[in-house]
Amino acid sequence: MIIQKTGPLHGELTIPGDKSISHRAVMFGALAEGDTRITHFLTGADCLSTIACLKAMGISMEQNADEVIVHGKGLHGLSAPARTLDAGNSGTTIRLLSGILCGQDFDSMITGDASICKRPMKRIISPLLSMHADIRSKRGNNCAPLVIRGRALKGIRYQSPVSSAQVKSCVLLAGLYADSPVTVIEPVLSRNHTEIMLASLGADIQSEGTAVTIQPSPALKAQDIVVPGDISSAAYFIAAALLTPGSEILLRNVGTNPTRDGFLRVCSAMDASIERLNETTSGEPSCDLLVKSSPLKGTTVEGSIIPTLIDELPMIAVMACFAEGTTVIRDAKELRVKESDRIAVMTENLQKMGADITATEDGMIINGGKPLHGAVVESHFDHRVAMSLAIAGGLCEGELNIRGTECVNISFPGFFTDLASLH
Ligand code: S3P
Repeated sequence: MIIQKTGPLHGELTIPGDKSISHRAVMFGALAEGDTRITHFLTGADCLSTIACLKAMGISMEQNADEVIVHGKGLHGLSAPARTLDAGNSGTTIRLLSGILCGQDFDSMITGDASICKRPMKRIISPLLSMHADIRSKRGNNCAPLVIRGRALKGIRYQSPVSSAQVKSCVLLAGLYADSPVTVIEPVLSRNHTEIMLASLGADIQSEGTAVTIQPSPALKAQDIVVPGDISSAAYFIAAALLTPGSEILLRNVGTNPTRDGFLRVCSAMDASIERLNETTSGEPSCDLLVKSSPLKGTTVEGSIIPTLIDELPMIAVMACFAEGTTVIRDAKELRVKESDRIAVMTENLQKMGADITATEDGMIINGGKPLHGAVVESHFDHRVAMSLAIAGGLCEGELNIRGTECVNISFPGFFTDLASLH
């Protein structure tokens, strides 16, 4: 796709549903007793992979645009899949479902695309083995495909070496099937959508600091779920509006859970003008965001804020190129094991566009204020890389040719249409 410099952004948008919450809504709805009506579900490819896996285990659902009705069968209602489950490109699907599969009374195998088969699964295999699960990497390389034999699980107190909501959620979901409580302690708190949603379905789950404990559950009770807009998707338009002089946009109903809103806090530190309007606070908090173009300054992004903006770091790297001064991103080694190695891929692509950016082991150092120019860049089939580069393309001189933009469908099928609607 060829992207050219664009004028100011104006208008209003409703951002598609949150990806993390959409995955959890269909999974937990399947495990609950009764029907779950999900409103503003994200119909991106990742969440459709979750739906396909659940259907392969006997769960029926009706989908009409962004509304999904899940006919839950209870914690013990899944049936053995006839074939290997396919998580596609989705880390959330394979890691969360693995926790559930370990506690079933049937065997299964789960895999995904080429990117998924390179991502680390030892981080879930280790704690699950400590719970007495029978899970192994088929090729013995700690990656997918994962071969799982369902069996009775034991409780565990697990000190996770990484702050990862996928690892935490995997272990907590296995905990639904354990014989005693399961506690997960993280170095820094990661997104807590699993905790909020399981509690609303009646699970006995308590958080204290970075520790969360779940008691084995007799049952979950279905509840209707309204999914807020995905702040990770909103970030692209926020960045474009901030960086294009004369812009003013309103993004409606964006999720602002404090474990996810680090991007907004970094924008403030960069001197961005973003107002939060019509805030709601119960359950998953959300608000409308009024964004006005602002000259940005560099900042340091490090420490406990990192998990709250982990998926927004490719976009922050682009913003830093247009900000005055230096931006340092550190403590973000996790970026190396996402859908692509986002440190290497963003550094390489932005360097091709003339940016002064250096990769470090756990982040990037960006000296901003140097104009970017057109180039041929590669998404590496990473949706967040593709969308961040598309925003960079609207800001640079000359044509930006991005190879592999179809992958935006993973998390944001209408991305290019929505972007065009603001011009
Ligand atoms: C997610 C957690 C994060 C995030 C991913 C979605 C989730 O991954 O990067 O896009 O839905 O729990 P990690 O848990 O690996 O940090």
